[in-house]
Amino acid sequence: MFLPPPEVLDFFPDYRTTQIAWQGLAPVAAWAIWSLKPGRVVELGSYRGDSFFAFLDAASQVPELREIVAVDSWTGDKHTGPFTGQVYAQFHDELERRGDHRVRSIRALFSDAATQFEEGSIDMLHIDGAHEYDAVKLDFEQWLPKMSPNGVVLFHDTMVTDPDFGVWQVWAEIEAAYPNRTFNFEHSNGLGVLFLGDDTTGDFRQLALLPPREAAILRDTMRLTGEAIVNTTRYEYLLITRNGGAVDVGHIYSRGHDRTRIERLRSIEATRLETHALNAWIEQWFNVHKGDLTAALVEPSMLTQTKLLREEFEGQLQHHVARLEQLLAEQGNAIRLSLEPLVIQALTTPGGSLGPALASFLAEMSREKNDAQDDSIMSLGSKADAQDQAIDTILNYIRRNDPRFTS
Ligand SMILES: C[S@@+](CC[C@H](N)C(=O)[O-])C[C@H]1O[C@@H](n2cnc3c(N)ncnc32)[C@H](O)[C@@H]1O
Repeated sequence: MFLPPPEVLDFFPDYRTTQIAWQGLAPVAAWAIWSLKPGRVVELGSYRGDSFFAFLDAASQVPELREIVAVDSWTGDKHTGPFTGQVYAQFHDELERRGDHRVRSIRALFSDAATQFEEGSIDMLHIDGAHEYDAVKLDFEQWLPKMSPNGVVLFHDTMVTDPDFGVWQVWAEIEAAYPNRTFNFEHSNGLGVLFLGDDTTGDFRQLALLPPREAAILRDTMRLTGEAIVNTTRYEYLLITRNGGAVDVGHIYSRGHDRTRIERLRSIEATRLETHALNAWIEQWFNVHKGDLTAALVEPSMLTQTKLLREEFEGQLQHHVARLEQLLAEQGNAIRLSLEPLVIQALTTPGGSLGPALASFLAEMSREKNDAQDDSIMSLGSKADAQDQAIDTILNYIRRNDPRFTS
């Protein structure tokens, strides 16, 4: 089975913005950089930098890489829409933070920037500018002469067939024009890889000759590892916004494998679940005893029994409230807002009106419970976990079977 080295599957980009369209390709980018060791990399279309900084993260382990250049007008195009200098500033703040002398940016139209590069001087080109057929074709044709003989060209969005997206069409032409020199990753909107020369150095180049079954397994594996990254971003977004935080377009998610913030938010979510378990218990108790409670309103002889039930309920409820208070103390305000006033109301209402207080309490609880986001966020969390586990399984498989690790 042809799979990338384990560190590729483990690769997690240090920098993630709200632009998730490309993020799942970060492990592919790392693999390309580590395996091909290009001397010069150029990106056409860097925007906020999700792709560019993934390439740069990988480049930190490749001393052969002498220069990595971001080209963008930083004014936007039909699909990003026009944007402000804030996008340019965000990209360049990150660039400065890295302090990597091999990096340079060119703020210009692609066709103007092309004149700054000599023929045959680029080893890897990532084309991710405007997506219309004519634009992509022009980018490729203008920059092809700049490529070194064994250069590699990457095309983002090969899988998008929406109106106005023509990368898939240019890619189909390239596949026909370069037999046995291409490979297409199909996740994260697609990334087409074109190997211009005959060089076979580096496992990444084997992609072009993979038998279909091997290619399908590889695609699935890379999709899985890419989706784990994108789902982490989505999950983090939901956790932040659900718990009162803000995520604007310029947001940068917690960096790399530093999951501390996510873990903290995850534990608040766990509290939310415990709260739901408590709600379920209250609801169940009420359902079991509501006949007695209702009967008590019309039948005086039931009053004693109802009083006992009420005492039992309040005892249980107080036990749960104590637990809840402990959780609140641990977790802050996440659930206090919606729950506490209702619990207090239920506890302090005089006996005769306990039923209505409970009813309003339960109505509020079921509104909370029906909150669809609860389901989606938990399923997203467990999906990300499942993907992590799947990747671990793959990594273990590689460690057991790959001669690089067993020898
Ligand atoms: C799809 S975005 C790039 C996304 C980026 N690679 C990422 O990972 O998020 C396309 C970018 O290309 C730029 N662009 C499009 N056509 C251009 C052209 N002809 N010259 C310069 N920049 C262009 C836009 O300003 C925009 O920032």
